[in-house]
Parts: sequence; C-alpha cells; structure tokens
Amino acid sequence: MNADQPPVPTILVLASGSGTNLQALIEASRERDFPGQIAAVGCNRPNAFALERASQAHIETFVVDHTKYDSRDEFDGALMQEIRRHNPDLVVLAGFMRILTTDFVRAFRGQLLNIHPSLLPKYTGLNTHQRALDAGDTLHGVSVHFVTEELDGGPVIAQAEVAVAPGDTTESLAEKVQEKEHILYPIVVRWFCEGRIQLGSDYVTFDGELLKKPMRLPDN
Ligand code: GRF
Repeated sequence: MNADQPPVPTILVLASGSGTNLQALIEASRERDFPGQIAAVGCNRPNAFALERASQAHIETFVVDHTKYDSRDEFDGALMQEIRRHNPDLVVLAGFMRILTTDFVRAFRGQLLNIHPSLLPKYTGLNTHQRALDAGDTLHGVSVHFVTEELDGGPVIAQAEVAVAPGDTTESLAEKVQEKEHILYPIVVRWFCEGRIQLGSDYVTFDGELLKKPMRLPDN
C-alpha cells in the first residue's frame, strides 16, 4: 500500500442463505477502482451457501449459530464479538434473517446497511412479494437503508423499482427484484466506502446534503 493513500474501508457481510447479494458484492469488489474490501463473511447458519461463496473468493468466514444460544442477547453478543475482531468500517446485511437487538444496532449505528425487498416504507417484514401482489400494486421493488432500532424502518438511501406485470407470481417478482438488488447494493456500498452517504439522527446525507427522497436506480 502507498503510504500516502488512506486505508481502504473494510466491509463485513452477514448472510443467512444463498448469498446472491454477497456474490454481487464480491464481484463488484473485484473491480479495480472499488473503494472497499470485503474482510469477512459471517453466517448464523453453518450450511448457508453464502459461506461457500465466500470461501471460493478466499474471504475469511465465521459462523455464529443462533440455535446454540438461549437468548437473542447472547447470540447478538457473540456476533458482535466476532464482528469486532475484524473491526470493519461497514457491516452489510445481505439476507441476514435474524432480528438484531437494540444494543447491536446501536453499536454499529451509521455503519450498518440492509437490503429489503420492497419499496419501503411499504411492506416491512416478511412476504413482501405476496403482499405487493395481494394489494394489486403495479410497482414493487427493493430498498437499501441504514439499520436503526425500528425493523426495516431506518432511513432509506436508495431504491430500484420493478413493474408488476399481469400474471406475475411471487417467484417471478422475487426474480425481478433480485436482479435489481444485485445492481443496487454494490452501488450503495460503493457510495458508503467513498464517504458519500452518512446517517444523521433520522435522515441520510448524500455528499453532505440532506437526502430528501431515496436515490432511484435508473430503469435499466
Ligand atoms: C434478498 O431478497 C434480500 O432482499 C432479503 O433477503 C434476500 C437474500 O437473498 N433481505 P440472497 O441470500 O442474497 O440470495
């Protein structure tokens, strides 16, 4: 590393499942001008495919298996300890299917991002695609937000829309939304690593200015 250059921000990714978003981030981080480095990947499930993806990319992994802890506090405590070992600048939740305690969220305030498959504030929680279909929505999508104490309620940084077509099913919608996720998340992580986005009390600043509404990914 050149002594004149600031150190590259480090990223720790938490995932629970297949890890397609992790994969998109791994690929983005391989771009020569990517301003961050994925230091480690943590999972709460020992058989999550995300672990395999990380190993293939020679990224350090760890597992904190939630079934081995009696309470959410103990699990989060153990998870925090593992994360602190890596001292990341950014923690990215990429399909991490555990609700985090207030202590955890506060400990990483302003350094914790999540991706949620809906156009927040619509459809926090689970089954977002089915709920969008049930409501007859013609627009659905994905949001990346800072994590705060409120579940899926932290300030939204960016969104990408998908059109709901007649005949769409939860599966077809999920596929369309995931395609956008894989584009949107690396963009937002890049902004973070470049120091462009910051969390204020209950708002986001982008390049030092209050972000009045979430950034939108262009249609294609
Ligand atoms: C994504 O759809 C994301 O929006 C949600 O969990 C899913 C994770 O998928 N939070 P993957 O494990 O990245 O493939």
